[in-house]
Amino acid sequence: MDYEYDPVPLPYRQALSDAESLQRAENFYRHIRTRHSVRHFTDRPVDRAVIEACLLAAGTAPSGANHQPWHFACVSSSAKKREIREAAEAEEREFYAGKAGDEWLSDLKKMGTDAQKPFLETAPWLIAIFAERYGFDDAGERRKNYYMPESVGIATGFLIAALHEAGLATLTHTPNPMKFLNEILGRPTNERPYILLVVGHPSEDAMIPGAATVKKPLEQIASFIE
Ligand SMILES: Cc1cc2nc3c(=O)[nH]c(=O)nc-3n(C[C@H](O)[C@H](O)[C@H](O)COP(=O)(O)O)c2cc1C
Repeated sequence: MDYEYDPVPLPYRQALSDAESLQRAENFYRHIRTRHSVRHFTDRPVDRAVIEACLLAAGTAPSGANHQPWHFACVSSSAKKREIREAAEAEEREFYAGKAGDEWLSDLKKMGTDAQKPFLETAPWLIAIFAERYGFDDAGERRKNYYMPESVGIATGFLIAALHEAGLATLTHTPNPMKFLNEILGRPTNERPYILLVVGHPSEDAMIPGAATVKKPLEQIASFIE
């Protein structure tokens, strides 16, 4: 199905002074730098409305040709969470037993992670993010997607930032491989599991790896050609 170019005025623009821009940018940095991947959650429930608002934010992300090649399967069912934990731990046992290879396992030592994933049952929500290899148009015809991993990565970033803004903790989890998520969650074969996002409140005694607090300085991550 073809869509014609149909321009509409930019619906919103911000008229900020340079000083306001800087202040906003610095405030955002101060806030986002408090985010960390959490592996110790409480079972305190989180309203579905909060999750929905954060997903709406994620859904505003840019994507190749605006095809929005993502699906967020949100799980709060204890039975489904248990199934996911069992399947993920089975994968992770093989991974940590050597499938990952020496270099990867050595790199992971500083993270203190192992094959046990109790948070997959404790946390109130698991958001399984799927990337659409291809989609379907309004007529049900197969439609190509462009820059699918990039697009889903950006939407996932929006989602993590929105959840952090809502006061929630997340873990970007990637049991390897994740095909079991299609089966457990009944997702179609055109969708590839991308990330399993664990969402909830951190436990009182939540710890994080010290290594995770070390972020590269600006000089190492950016160059300016002026
Ligand atoms: C694509 C991706 C996959 C990840 N997979 C896992 C994972 O399977 N298990 C885990 O404990 N952490 C995982 N992490 C979290 C990283 O270990 C974490 O982001 C990193 O150590 C930096 O810590 P921070 O998120 O607290 O800044 C993953 C992160 C990303 C971006």
